[in-house]
Amino acid sequence: MISTIKATTFMKAFRTGRTCPCLMLCEDDQGDMTEVVVKLRTGHECTCTGLICELMASLLARDLGLPVPEPYLVEVDDVFHAGISDVNLANRFRASAGLNFGSRFLGAAYVSWPQLRSIPAAIQQDAADIFAFDMMIQNPDRRENKPNLLRKGDDLAIFDHEMAFSFLYALVSDEYPWDGKGIGFVKDHIFYGGLKGKEVSWNRLQGALEAIDSSRLSVYTDAVPKEWRQDSHVVAERIQSYLELATRNSKSLFQKMAEVLK
Ligand SMILES: Nc1ncnc2c1ncn2[C@@H]1O[C@H](COP(=O)(O)OP(=O)(O)O)[C@@H](O)[C@H]1O
Ligand SMILES: [Mg+2]
Repeated sequence: MISTIKATTFMKAFRTGRTCPCLMLCEDDQGDMTEVVVKLRTGHECTCTGLICELMASLLARDLGLPVPEPYLVEVDDVFHAGISDVNLANRFRASAGLNFGSRFLGAAYVSWPQLRSIPAAIQQDAADIFAFDMMIQNPDRRENKPNLLRKGDDLAIFDHEMAFSFLYALVSDEYPWDGKGIGFVKDHIFYGGLKGKEVSWNRLQGALEAIDSSRLSVYTDAVPKEWRQDSHVVAERIQSYLELATRNSKSLFQKMAEVLK
């Protein structure tokens, strides 16, 4: 379900967001090299909980046929930090030795979303699916000033799901989108304005969600490395239970989405 690859070369750090992930060259067990954007377990605002959210949201997105770059577990060895000249970054690599989260680098052909007021027709269905996904996983982090998506022609790609599953941080934890609760954040979604009032269909996405059963969800939980779980106890299990409820309440969930965009 998810491959583990070895970090071999640090290329650069992305300095724009909260967590400053690193572009790295990584080697798989066949000896093939891939460019991967790596989120380290430590430093900046990185936490194991954030990485669990990244991983489980990516695995779900792939099962739902949404355009996420391939996720990886990226192994950083104990001596990797010695080759990094920036002291702060070297310390992050030292503290993050072991497994980290990675996503395949999308490449230079993917450019930033131009923050269009209206969504081109060719992209509308993908935009609607991404909007629905974010409402489904309680992800408030795809906004105008932080789109967390890139575009290559009519192809979109989404990333950065560490703030998803916001019930993990909520004081009132049983406010679920299928009950129409805790969904105020969707009004700030990058696609909300462009989709509002439009005729959208989520039949494909709803079918894909309903095809995910408990045993499939437990595969996501099992993919979470033990070392992330030591700090984050039952986070993976809580996300799994939440997603079980989402699949069971899928009909109401999509109804609420339609109401929000009416
Ligand atoms: N798989 C990827 N391919 C290409 N660029 C990426 C990828 N993942 C992240 N990035 C770039 O790195 C930046 C920071 O990554 P992101 O996951 O958004 O972390 P954060 O915003 O928490 O720092 C993004 O805005 C994007 O430009
Ligand atoms: Mg981001």
